[in-house]
Amino acid sequence: MHIDIITVVPDLLTGPFSHSILKRAEDKGIASVKVHNLRDYATGKQKQVDDYAFGGGAGMVMQIEPIARCIEALKKTRTYDEIIYMTPDGKTFDQPMANTLSLHQNLLILCGHYKGVDERVRERFITKEISIGDFVLSGGELAAAVVADAIIRLIPGVLNDETSALTDSFQDGLLAPPVYTRPAEYEGMKVPEVLLSGHEAKINEWRFEASVRRTRERRPDLLSKEESGKSDVKSNKK
Ligand code: ADE
Repeated sequence: MHIDIITVVPDLLTGPFSHSILKRAEDKGIASVKVHNLRDYATGKQKQVDDYAFGGGAGMVMQIEPIARCIEALKKTRTYDEIIYMTPDGKTFDQPMANTLSLHQNLLILCGHYKGVDERVRERFITKEISIGDFVLSGGELAAAVVADAIIRLIPGVLNDETSALTDSFQDGLLAPPVYTRPAEYEGMKVPEVLLSGHEAKINEWRFEASVRRTRERRPDLLSKEESGKSDVKSNKK
């Protein structure tokens, strides 16, 4: 997979993509991310990419011309499956969306800044608009990093343990169960006996029940009405 990201603050994206899983995916040749500075597509001495909003009001608006030049130039190099605009009024990002996007070959992500982009950019070029939650960031860069991370880690071969992405929270509509490691007892706090038993079927059953219980306690909205009404799995937390 290849992801191109267009931004006016490329420095914000160098950190996330030069570490950890994303770096490993790049090194293995499984995924690549390229950050493009929108200012490189601006004209004039000032390399201006934004201007005042027609009709007045506070805040600058990103102009269509530099964005159009950048997107047109990138479209000559590859065919994009989606051209995504990061915006708080987009569709809320979730695990099913990450799963779908992880199947694509080429993605282009445009990060908004200031008051956002001229609406005509969205009408002309954008195929998908994504929000990472009901809050406003100062720009789409951190949101783009979140989306790219969630997508890239799902591509087979990126994670060392192939199955670990499948057991993530949300992957089966449930939160992940608690996990433990050594020591088996810490200041009187014991790891649940079943996890030390070596009995795989029982461990899987315990994990499933713990997942359901945790989901019911913390995110009942994820469970169907019928499921969340059951009382067989009891809460152990106030
Ligand atoms: N840009 C600013 N806020 C954002 C959000 N919540 N999601 C995606 N992009 C954004």
